[in-house]
Amino acid sequence: MRFSRPMICMIILSGLACMGGGGCTPVQPPANTNATPAATATANNTSAAPTPPPGTLGPAIPHDANFSDNPQTLAAIQHDFDVFSWQSFVALNWPAMPDGSADPGKIIGADGDGAVVWDGYKEPYEVFLPDGSTPTPWGQQQLPAQCRNLGPPGDKVLQMTQKVSDDVLDASGQPFGTGPLVDQQNGRYVRYEIRINRDTYDYIVQNTLYNKEGQQAFTQLIQFPKGTNPSSQAPDAPVGSIVIKAAWKVIDPAQGDIPGRFHKVQAYVYTRASDNPPTPPSCELKTVGLVGFHIAHKTASAPQWVWSTFEQVDNVQVGHDAPPGTKANFFDAVSTYPVNTPPPRPWNPNAVLPPDKRSQVKRVIPIDDATKALNAQWQAWLGGVNKDSVWQYYELVSTQWPTQPNASPTGPKPAGDPAPPFLANATLETYIQGNTPNVSSSCIMCHNNATTTNSKFSDFTYLLERAHKKGGGK
Ligand code: HEC
Repeated sequence: MRFSRPMICMIILSGLACMGGGGCTPVQPPANTNATPAATATANNTSAAPTPPPGTLGPAIPHDANFSDNPQTLAAIQHDFDVFSWQSFVALNWPAMPDGSADPGKIIGADGDGAVVWDGYKEPYEVFLPDGSTPTPWGQQQLPAQCRNLGPPGDKVLQMTQKVSDDVLDASGQPFGTGPLVDQQNGRYVRYEIRINRDTYDYIVQNTLYNKEGQQAFTQLIQFPKGTNPSSQAPDAPVGSIVIKAAWKVIDPAQGDIPGRFHKVQAYVYTRASDNPPTPPSCELKTVGLVGFHIAHKTASAPQWVWSTFEQVDNVQVGHDAPPGTKANFFDAVSTYPVNTPPPRPWNPNAVLPPDKRSQVKRVIPIDDATKALNAQWQAWLGGVNKDSVWQYYELVSTQWPTQPNASPTGPKPAGDPAPPFLANATLETYIQGNTPNVSSSCIMCHNNATTTNSKFSDFTYLLERAHKKGGGK
């Protein structure tokens, strides 16, 4: 028997198969039309490397999933969204040209590790300015004063650790200040970063959603642009809104880190002033490695957005092909610190914690077998490009998507019954993992509570809550 997506939604909801009629509006999965001819990976190592299908490892960000598997069971659709996640991960981390766009002449990981496409995306602090004024144009960056004149330019400014004061949402790290995360090697706080793509930025700027007055004046339903697969009718279909949240840890080989297993950047690690504990603003230049990566992408098949989450493979246990002596980033079997428990207060982002206070993280919901198999395939392709590629050391935890994409934002179930029902990244939702309804991490269910500064539906993003009043103030 063949299922369409709406049939599956009915099965989940009520255990009844939808027979194609009443109450079941069919959504046609977009056709398989990935427009951009992607560069094809060619192996530069001599061993018999696995070769992905042509175009798989490419710089084109998919505009939507391709629902190519038949029959469309829940598992088949999950697979299609997981493939979409991996394609997005590869395209977003594709080598960038100086203008920030993907370099079509390069292949991910082939020439080592360098600037990637999403580095050119905007950060919220550049969009929601303290005086509510018009954001800096796309392509220009502003550094906090403490980070200027630090010598060689860093690639990024990382400032988020935890919510340190009520009016600086910018400093929020894990959702609602559930607690900072401290790595085993260095005893340092993990830093977070949010980035938005051009479609997201343009929507905010064109509708003046970057200040409170603009949000107040905007009376329509907030609807960020959807990605739609290009077709002959719409060859320039938009990629849609993409929002990224990344987690980084300090990398120091002298402390046991294996740098070749991480995507690394030089970053200004900026700490805002805080009252408790009293901390002046500071900025240090550090090498940091990517440990967690969320992608939220609004697409035609998922108006509740597609929620993909990746981790470095050594986060909670040592991953594949690790040299002897490799240790997990956030777990040490000899430590007695309680598992999945935030560090003791007070929380000082500049502190170096002693080994017996460093985070002990366990994954509560295991990665399922189908996703593990898909991860092994993509990791082998990435390693086939270059046996030293850092990108082969990342894994997809899962992809959350709405089983009822047609659910109205103003209806009774705006979240559209997400599958899987719970999803967490060990570095980003560390302390709310699990499967307790209304308590444990579910990307869509929690983001469905996000609003504007005047308590209106914000289309699943917490970004708009950061807006200030024109001229300054909350
Ligand atoms: C308990 C609530 C909660 C859960 C669960 C949650 N988030 Fe978030 N998320 C937040 C909050 C709050 C922010 C805003 C943080 C900030 O602005 O500093 C955020 C920020 C983000 C952002 C960037 C800003 C935005 O809001 O668009 C992305 C992307 C994101 N989360 C993805 C995910 C993914 C993927 C999952 C599931 C694996 C997830 N989140 C689970 C609360 C949550």
